[in-house]
Amino acid sequence: MFRLLIRNARVARPDGSTFDGDVLCEDGHIARLAPGIDTQADESIDARGKLLLPGVIDPQVHFREPGKEYKEGLESGSRAAVRGGVTSFLEMPNTDPSTTTQAALDDKLERAAQKSVANYGFFIGATADNLDVLNSAAPACGIKIFMGASTGSLLVDRPEDLERIFANGTRLIAVHAEDEARIRARKAQFAGRTDYAVHSEIRDSECALKATELALALSKKYRRRLHILHLSTKEEAELLRRDKPAWVTAEVIPNHLFLNTGDYATLGARVQMNPPIRAKEDNAVLWAALKDGVIDFIATDHAPHTLEEKSQPYPKSPAGMPGVETSLPLLLTEMAAGRCTLADIQKWMCWGPAVSYGIPNKGKILEGWDADLTLVDMDTVKTVRDEDMFTKVRWSPFAGRALTGWPVYTIVNGRVVFDNGRVRDGVFGRPLRFH
Ligand code: DOR
Repeated sequence: MFRLLIRNARVARPDGSTFDGDVLCEDGHIARLAPGIDTQADESIDARGKLLLPGVIDPQVHFREPGKEYKEGLESGSRAAVRGGVTSFLEMPNTDPSTTTQAALDDKLERAAQKSVANYGFFIGATADNLDVLNSAAPACGIKIFMGASTGSLLVDRPEDLERIFANGTRLIAVHAEDEARIRARKAQFAGRTDYAVHSEIRDSECALKATELALALSKKYRRRLHILHLSTKEEAELLRRDKPAWVTAEVIPNHLFLNTGDYATLGARVQMNPPIRAKEDNAVLWAALKDGVIDFIATDHAPHTLEEKSQPYPKSPAGMPGVETSLPLLLTEMAAGRCTLADIQKWMCWGPAVSYGIPNKGKILEGWDADLTLVDMDTVKTVRDEDMFTKVRWSPFAGRALTGWPVYTIVNGRVVFDNGRVRDGVFGRPLRFH
């Protein structure tokens, strides 16, 4: 039995209050929470002055393996994750090949078992003709539908194909909601414009709203569990504020909270993504929707591309930004400024995604729960720098921002994986279970 003792931490309770004390982890679980635990342990950490949080669950990342390992892989992506306090991730199917068969899913699971230092789960990707697989593939956290084309070849945009998927089966459907027909029409309309900012004009708010409306209508028709990925516009937030069935959830990503079209001038293709960054006003409405519970939780949509690829002229420049290692520091910075609470952060980044995806026993620091934890230093302000990033592409759209609240230790299944700036060798994550 492996025992890890974390001493003298400020421990976050699920309700956002804290207590000063010790946490004993035994064989991957939180065995005891109490002040002054006096026991032998295999390893102990002095956490004085640091805040202990449940490990972050990032429910949307693209780790590019198999197929595009020059950008990222399950090893490098998961190392970036634990650097950012992320102990579990859900990974997207737009790899090469796409994850649209049980064999492709098994392949990812085998690779992750060898390489991932965080716990892992995978989506099964929808095509127009893999309905059987969508309902049988296991273990999968859900079905991913690209309603509009993005990176990779996955696309289901014909209403009859979408309807067939929503009508058959019960498992969670997560949608990339952008209307493909409108994107194509507007690409033609804006052809010739090569400034990166045109990306947000082509894939405008209407593209997102139309697709979200369709997904919502299908979800209501069949009472089908729906999750709206990276909700990006004020119009979609307002739609959900009016009309959000109990079986529908939505997420927002830091890019849509903290970046906007004003950033193209300085960051260019670095901030090009799908769905695109929006107006400043959208930032505020999305933040309010998150605070009000209209939006349920936060993902990052970590989508690394190399700076060399990004430096190509529009529209050759690929869409997507890395983010898995900066989401927690960004949100802790908001907390330090009084704009959200410790309870909010745990709901948005820890237990919220766990509940939505049916991941048992994760996201709260409670006795008997899984010992996925991150110990953060709220006293150090550190500026994000490209060269410090753990992602293989070594850049961040948030470079230059001074953030408060960086992980110093990250613990996965009761073992220290990230330790003061370094990832330890020989510790691996486990496959997530979904109920
Ligand atoms: O900008 C994006 N990049 N949006 C997506 O939906 C996919 C992602 C990627 O995989 O590069």
